[in-house]
Amino acid sequence: MKRMGKTAIVLMLAAGLMAGQAAGVSAATEKEDKVITVAHRGASGYAPENTMAAFEQSVAMKADFLELDVQLSKDGRLVIIHDTTVDRTTDGTGTVRSLTYEELSQLDAGSFFSPAFQGEKIPTLEQVLDEYRGKIGILIEIKASYLYPGIEQKVADALSDRNLDKPNNGKVIIQSFETASVEKFHKLLPDIPVGILTSSANQLTDEALAQFSTYADYINPNLAYISEDLVNRVHALDMGIMAWTVRNAVYVQPLLDAGVDGIITDYPDYVPRHRG
Ligand code: G3P
Ligand code: CA
Repeated sequence: MKRMGKTAIVLMLAAGLMAGQAAGVSAATEKEDKVITVAHRGASGYAPENTMAAFEQSVAMKADFLELDVQLSKDGRLVIIHDTTVDRTTDGTGTVRSLTYEELSQLDAGSFFSPAFQGEKIPTLEQVLDEYRGKIGILIEIKASYLYPGIEQKVADALSDRNLDKPNNGKVIIQSFETASVEKFHKLLPDIPVGILTSSANQLTDEALAQFSTYADYINPNLAYISEDLVNRVHALDMGIMAWTVRNAVYVQPLLDAGVDGIITDYPDYVPRHRG
């Protein structure tokens, strides 16, 4: 599944101009209107990350996608949590993979953020898919796959079971820092777009990008690496590019100016069209 090609986008824009629809619309506004706003770990600036409260906030703020991190419990359930231990974001201790789903489901995943969110739980991927498919796009990060053999198949099964594995549904994207995991998932469900997460310049060379483009639809770098040149090089290979993680509004305009396709942010309202 490849994103819409640059040629197609250019033709669409040209058609719009001929119809007079784009007359007077600045290039800056077009970029702002087209950019995909991704609520990072849900709208995690406003609610505890990777909880249903944060995902609900993503929808309320009209983000285009919510992002989540998926790992496996001791008994092989797909659970939504960022760190490989529960220590930072819950009232428990220990590694995610040493705890059963029953044990994980007892933890309070809200109080670390604010007492107002006491009692928020660690969701499962299935819960999130069932609650939010059709309401908002879902960007699934497969986290630390080296700890979880078989996680790609489990994620693929969760999608297939819900008929979310078909071409052009356009509303589920898989990403990971582990390139082998991304490639493995792509082979399982080739119609689901996949992205490479990176915070390494070595993965942004022309050679590396060309290799990724053999299977990936997106390159999603740390925002520190974004430049117009990088965006153009990624687009030339018919891939999209989404930047992370915006936690300060000052980063938004430079990213729009560089031409990124997506902005991954804890604060969806930092992207101007989502402001109240
Ligand atoms: O979606 C990008 C971002 O989630 C990658 O970093 O550590 O927040 O999972 P991290
Ligand atoms: Ca993530």
